[in-house]
Amino acid sequence: MTTNEKYAGVPSAAEVESLANSLFPDFEPELCAEGTEKLLTTGDTGVLDLAAGKAQAYYSKVSAVSGAPSVPVNPSGLEQYVQPNTEVFSAPAYINEYTRLENLAQEAETLFAKEPQSASTEFTPYVGELDGYNAIPSSLENNLPQGFGYLDSLANNSASEAKSASLYAEEITPAVSQLDGFGVYREPQPTNEQVNQSGGYSPVVLSETQSASYVPAQSTSRIYQPSKADSQIIVGTKTLAQIRNDFPILNETINGHKLVWLDNGATTQRPQAVIDRLSYYYTHENSNVHRGAHTLAARSTDAYENARQIVADFIGAPDAKDIVFVRGTTEGINLVANAYVKQYLKPGDEIIVTLLEHHANIVPWQLIAQETGAVIKVAPVDATGQIILSEYEKLFTKRTKFVSATHVSNTLGTVTPVAELIAIAHAHGVRIMIDGAQSVAHIPVNVSALDADFFVFSGHKIFAPMGIGVVYGKADLLEAARPYHGGGNMIKDVTFERTVYNPAPNKFEAGTGSVADAVGLGAALQYLTEIGMEAINKHEHELLVYAIKEMKKIPGLHLVGTAANKASVLSFVVDGVNNEEIGQKLNELGIAVRTGHHCAQPALRYFGLEGTVRPTLALYNSFEDIDALIRGIRSIV
Ligand SMILES: Cc1ncc(COP(=O)(O)O)c(C=O)c1O
Repeated sequence: MTTNEKYAGVPSAAEVESLANSLFPDFEPELCAEGTEKLLTTGDTGVLDLAAGKAQAYYSKVSAVSGAPSVPVNPSGLEQYVQPNTEVFSAPAYINEYTRLENLAQEAETLFAKEPQSASTEFTPYVGELDGYNAIPSSLENNLPQGFGYLDSLANNSASEAKSASLYAEEITPAVSQLDGFGVYREPQPTNEQVNQSGGYSPVVLSETQSASYVPAQSTSRIYQPSKADSQIIVGTKTLAQIRNDFPILNETINGHKLVWLDNGATTQRPQAVIDRLSYYYTHENSNVHRGAHTLAARSTDAYENARQIVADFIGAPDAKDIVFVRGTTEGINLVANAYVKQYLKPGDEIIVTLLEHHANIVPWQLIAQETGAVIKVAPVDATGQIILSEYEKLFTKRTKFVSATHVSNTLGTVTPVAELIAIAHAHGVRIMIDGAQSVAHIPVNVSALDADFFVFSGHKIFAPMGIGVVYGKADLLEAARPYHGGGNMIKDVTFERTVYNPAPNKFEAGTGSVADAVGLGAALQYLTEIGMEAINKHEHELLVYAIKEMKKIPGLHLVGTAANKASVLSFVVDGVNNEEIGQKLNELGIAVRTGHHCAQPALRYFGLEGTVRPTLALYNSFEDIDALIRGIRSIV
């Protein structure tokens, strides 16, 4: 059967228009054009969905009064065009379903190729995905090749469905656009509250006879309804439900709503394992380290040094001695600038940073540049917010003394090409530091494989306590660096004539550090290692892709930072709505996001902005969190 035959009886645009005109003399066709345009150019069904919602309300109204002589309704005419409309609205959903299934099929294939043994466990979630199709052979879970074939054939079926549905959509879009125009007059419109509850409408419009046998199709839902509950979403060794359960603060209620924590870029929440570890430390181990010959000093020192080893293992450092505990990324960058770089700077020497940097990776360099007469050069970014490598390379001269670059931009989410940044710096004989504040909790990091000279990060952005952070440095560079602070702990021997200081890392850890917090950092990294950073990265990536897709559908919303390689950050602005107002309204719904300049003014000003609204993701976030965010934004804009 050809598409034409299949959809025979669809009214032409002219027919619908004349029907429209007979129903509503002040019918406005321009308003239809917008919906049609969106469907055809972007696949966005927003306007048409709204129209269909209104149409449905209208239709019930019409049915109720269809006997009244004052309403010139032709019910069969109405049916004629509302019926095919249900399929048009399904077309983009079919296409989405197909893309999703195709991706699943590919992932399953990769899994089989990689690890046929363990594929069974990993494949099970995909089987859950297919539940919506109601036709899964019971043997599927035990018979992987069969399961895969089934998945594949589902994908193929969806492909041909999607193709014919979209062909059909093209054919009758002019008629549908007229229907959209009808919608303008159809009251009552859904209230914001209804839209919030529903997560957005993708309605079907039915005659009374049709409605008797109507079964809602899952695929017409516009907001993604994960077919899997959090307890079915596997992130490494745990389910998402288990992970969420590990973070007690996620049970908080804010303004009568369940907390949705999307301010992970500012700080992350702590798992019970970290809270318990701190409590254990203060209950059983608390003492100053390295001093005193008693049992608790030994316990405390062991715990502290064990944490150092855990950090080294987590980031692939060759030795625990290469790990210096500091207060956080900011202190770490200041340490490297002052203790290592400053001694090599003469007037006119150059330090390279990138346009994406957090103020913490700008101001310390400005301070030492001012002191020494050095200059700062800035690697530019393209329109998506990605560093332009060729321009970065052009900045190097004989005067270049150091590079400091972020791994992930805290404002745009850009994942920079760190391996290339490092290789280019090294090709010019220049040392480089990577600011890992926004990367280390989201992307597996191996400083040895990257060949980074220095790598810094903050504990509080990786589920550990505040007040602890890390500087990794190559052993010879730490050796070449001067002590940062002077005082106890960092010395071997002191007289008034001369002081002999300890080797790294102690030479940088003068005074009493945040011992318990370092131990807590160790616990946080162990927690992540148990789950698996690769799996965490994959889960967050799926959330990010889903969130971007849904955010793009919101009229007037502009994502800021659209690099192909992004992590965690979903900065945006909305036409005509103040960022702070969005932040406050989201907070009223229990959703925590950051608004403002995020301490990266140069990056934002490059995009002509003084601030954004910035939701940021972490391992415990769920698809429901994203849906809450989308509903929240939609209720405001
Ligand atoms: C990329 C980046 N660098 C550095 C910092 C500073 O981190 P901290 O305040 O923990 O020292 C941040 C904090 O947001 C950041 O996002």
